[in-house]
Amino acid sequence: MEPLEIRRLSYSDLPQVVAVERRAFPTPWSLAMFVLELSKPSGICLAAVQAERITGYMVCSRYDTVWHLMNIAVDPDRRREGVATALIEKLFETADRDGEQYTLEVRTSNTPAIEMYERFGFRSAGVRRGYYHDNKEDALIMWRTARGRQPA
Ligand SMILES: CC(C)(COP(=O)(O)OP(=O)(O)OC[C@H]1O[C@@H](n2cnc3c(N)ncnc32)[C@H](O)[C@@H]1OP(=O)(O)O)[C@@H](O)C(=O)NCCC(=O)NCCS
Repeated sequence: MEPLEIRRLSYSDLPQVVAVERRAFPTPWSLAMFVLELSKPSGICLAAVQAERITGYMVCSRYDTVWHLMNIAVDPDRRREGVATALIEKLFETADRDGEQYTLEVRTSNTPAIEMYERFGFRSAGVRRGYYHDNKEDALIMWRTARGRQPA
């Protein structure tokens, strides 16, 4: 595996991000959605870079006091190599304070993602019925509360 660098996502990364996004999701985000998220000053948006290519990315926004993990995806050719793990670890390294809260929605059929989130301490907190418009699939709502780390 090539060395993996995790760094801030920038506007110039977005063409590559959109290409991965289209391979990763049945209903991908548009370029405009990524631009909007990147423009939010309180968000944390990260890129995973290997051999100068974007192999994964993560978009996390802060609403009120809660972090919302809005999007995370890895190139289908680079999965199961720890890329998403590295992105999430970097997020927690940057944002975790004792009591900090994170939430996300995930398709109930998305076992790989659910297993990954559980490994990171996310727990199911209910279901939003028919949340995904494309196939009316339910969303599992997950939460994580950071424990133990004091403000830097
Ligand atoms: C979910 C996703 C981001 C995981 O990315 P990844 O880089 O392959 O994940 P990692 O290699 O860091 O895996 C971390 C852990 O997640 C779990 N996991 C990941 N893929 C899995 C799979 N296919 N089946 C079961 N568990 C899986 C495992 O516990 C894994 O640890 P392990 O490899 O040591 O067993 C990737 O599969 C993806 O892009 N999926 C499509 C987009 C998506 O569904 N995003 C989430 C939307 S909510």
